[in-house]
Amino acid sequence: SDIEKGTYPHYMLKEIDEQPSVIRNIVSAYTNAAGELSIDEAIVNAFKEADRLYIIAAGTSLHAGLIGQQYMEKVAGIPTEVHISSEFGYNMPLLSKKPLFLFITQSGETADSRQVLVKIKALGYPTITMTNVPGSTLSREADHTLMLHAGPEIAVASTKAYTAQVAVLAITADVVAKAFGRSVAFDLKQELSIAANAIQTLVDSKEEMETIARDFLATSRNAFFIGRNMDYYVSLEGALKLKEISYIQAEGFAGGELKHGTIALIEEGTPVITLVTQKQVSLNIRGNVKEVVARGANPCILSMEGMEEEDDRFVLPKVHELLTPLVSVLPLQLISYYAALHRGCDVDKPRNLAKSVTVE
Ligand code: G6P
Repeated sequence: SDIEKGTYPHYMLKEIDEQPSVIRNIVSAYTNAAGELSIDEAIVNAFKEADRLYIIAAGTSLHAGLIGQQYMEKVAGIPTEVHISSEFGYNMPLLSKKPLFLFITQSGETADSRQVLVKIKALGYPTITMTNVPGSTLSREADHTLMLHAGPEIAVASTKAYTAQVAVLAITADVVAKAFGRSVAFDLKQELSIAANAIQTLVDSKEEMETIARDFLATSRNAFFIGRNMDYYVSLEGALKLKEISYIQAEGFAGGELKHGTIALIEEGTPVITLVTQKQVSLNIRGNVKEVVARGANPCILSMEGMEEEDDRFVLPKVHELLTPLVSVLPLQLISYYAALHRGCDVDKPRNLAKSVTVE
């Protein structure tokens, strides 16, 4: 309704702005009486009994799942696979002996994901749904629910649900790691609070993002998003966002993979939006930028504080290396929003798309 949108021109912009408070709400919702991060004990037990986690999702939730896989493996030491829900039903991988299933779905209604849940339940395996909608179909039908606490998301292009998913996945990995007796080398609660502040800084940088959108995307017919490691997964989400609302053909790529074919598409002026937040691979990704620039690309480098170089277009406030997706996605959301606006697109209701897709 108009009341909910308040003074905002679009739900998408409102939802982008809500992200700092969403992260803070999540931290308090998942903090116990002792002041520690915690999740439902039954979910921790489900993790204890499992030998492998299978994440099932579609769209933006799938992209959050890829980040979640990193958290589960690197923080909690749980072997994890991520699968596209629409593929999983007829192309099921060989399952481990004790699989645990995590369905990530903002709406809790996506038919592609639900058909997998139905099959998995029939096989008798334990299931968790991570959703933003209490009482949604996948929440009711799974054994357990992890709530996103992001508040209703109205814009078709998902923004705050993605950052909420990333945060709840980080919390889940942290809590499970500790339950396994693993030491976690950082204080996640504190790091999430630093990330919430960093997101606020980005939300307050709209003018710069609008300029970037105008400079790089106002007239281009395509765009590339590149990154390595965590930045690669965020690049996939950045490209999806841009496609969804601006109809610019966009691809997210692992920096090193571009040269194995797709670099043929680089022409004079092709925008290549590049994320540089992962220290270990920062030289490699900068090398990839040089490769595309040599072929005429117009590079837009978004780097993290401490890793910036002179011609970078924007410097992201520093957050913990595992939480960079929470901040690096923000400029991509905003750039997509302004690119769509410049091109006269209907930001909240893009053509051909629905908020939740209840057909397979
Ligand atoms: C639709 C929406 C996407 C969303 C996907 C998965 O295609 O347009 O924005 O990411 O469904 O939705 P879910 O509710 O399962 O996260």
